[in-house]
Amino acid sequence: MFPSKLLEKKRILVGITGGIAAYKACLFIRHLVTAGAEVRAMMTASAEKFITPLTIESLCRYPVYRDLFPENQFAATHHIELADWADAAVIIPATANIIGKTANGIGDDFFSTNMLALHCPILFAPAMNSNMWKNAAVQRNIAFLKSDGYFICDPEEGFLAEGYSGVGRLARMEYVLQHLYRAIHPGGQASLQGKTVMITAGGTREFLDPVRMLTNRSSGKMGFALAWEAFARGAKVILVHGPGNISPPVGVKNISVVSAEDMYQVVDENFADCDIFISAAAVADYRPDAFSKDKIKKGKGPMNIPMQRTKDILQTMGERKAAHQKLIGFAVETVDPEENARKKLRKKQLDMIVLNNPHVKGAAFEGDTNQVTLITEKDSQPVEMGYKIDIAREILEAVIAGEK
Ligand code: CTP
Repeated sequence: MFPSKLLEKKRILVGITGGIAAYKACLFIRHLVTAGAEVRAMMTASAEKFITPLTIESLCRYPVYRDLFPENQFAATHHIELADWADAAVIIPATANIIGKTANGIGDDFFSTNMLALHCPILFAPAMNSNMWKNAAVQRNIAFLKSDGYFICDPEEGFLAEGYSGVGRLARMEYVLQHLYRAIHPGGQASLQGKTVMITAGGTREFLDPVRMLTNRSSGKMGFALAWEAFARGAKVILVHGPGNISPPVGVKNISVVSAEDMYQVVDENFADCDIFISAAAVADYRPDAFSKDKIKKGKGPMNIPMQRTKDILQTMGERKAAHQKLIGFAVETVDPEENARKKLRKKQLDMIVLNNPHVKGAAFEGDTNQVTLITEKDSQPVEMGYKIDIAREILEAVIAGEK
């Protein structure tokens, strides 16, 4: 889902503490640098037992902060300067030790002292043995950190370095990045707090027989980006998505479906509970009349497949929407785009329609970028070419502005 414009020139401090997952911090720094962020790093003495400062230094192209009193260097306010420099900090991996020290205000080396001086959003990505993670004192410290406004990206369950499975493995990179996105989001978590947002994403599959199907090129990236965005703004998110290769966002209720009918059923069940429904899926308009449970054999001549219409999910929800509910649709139009998109807006009783132009290079299907126009009854607002996550931010910004 990254890169995002939001990370360009952002000053991110990466803090690495001593756990085996320290090697994964290298990859994380790489993601940040690729996305245009300026990165500086600090390491504890234990972290240096796992990876070398030279590795980290080479990745962020800046010396690593290590000592509270480095030799041959003026250092009295060293830690304060770094703390004042950072726009955000990510502690990856975060050990039980640094979690405990920060939660209890202890500064006894460069790293922990700097933690106390930081005044930017701070994200902890803990990684440790499952019994350590479950330890009551560690959990108490995590609760302290949360109530003090720190962001936590919980560890995952999986195979641990100890040779057995349990909760404690560093969250996958995508999740850490998603939490960082939330931590630095300019709209803040309050803008959709208390709201339920349902999003459909990706293409649907209509099977002819066990091996053949009708589908489309939609990757689901735009819908997933919208789910990230709604999560970052504090919403309860329901993501209903067709098959695809993107890892489902964390903190979101993910429901995977296959056909247009499956998607309709899930949306139908959840619609009454949602405040905002965004239909970003490329739903099949037709499905084969019949499904053959055996693989269809070829005949001598051409073949026609009788098809029938699927339900129009968005239109059906438009017909039953309550006054407080907002509906947002997507349109791909190649002829008279604005006029046709506006017709769809009225026909499906939408509050906004996002017009994709498939002819623009770098827009729409499969890629990481898009260029859209946000169309409402009164307005038409072009959004310049950008990463899908940044477009998602503009879309939700416009939805929220429309509510005021
Ligand atoms: N949509 C839907 N259910 C369908 C078809 C479309 O919910 N069976 C939604 C899409 O998610 C999108 C919007 O309707 O938000 C517009 O989809 P699009 O395919 O562009 O338009 P259609 O209404 O299907 O019209 P046409 O294909 O004739 O352009």
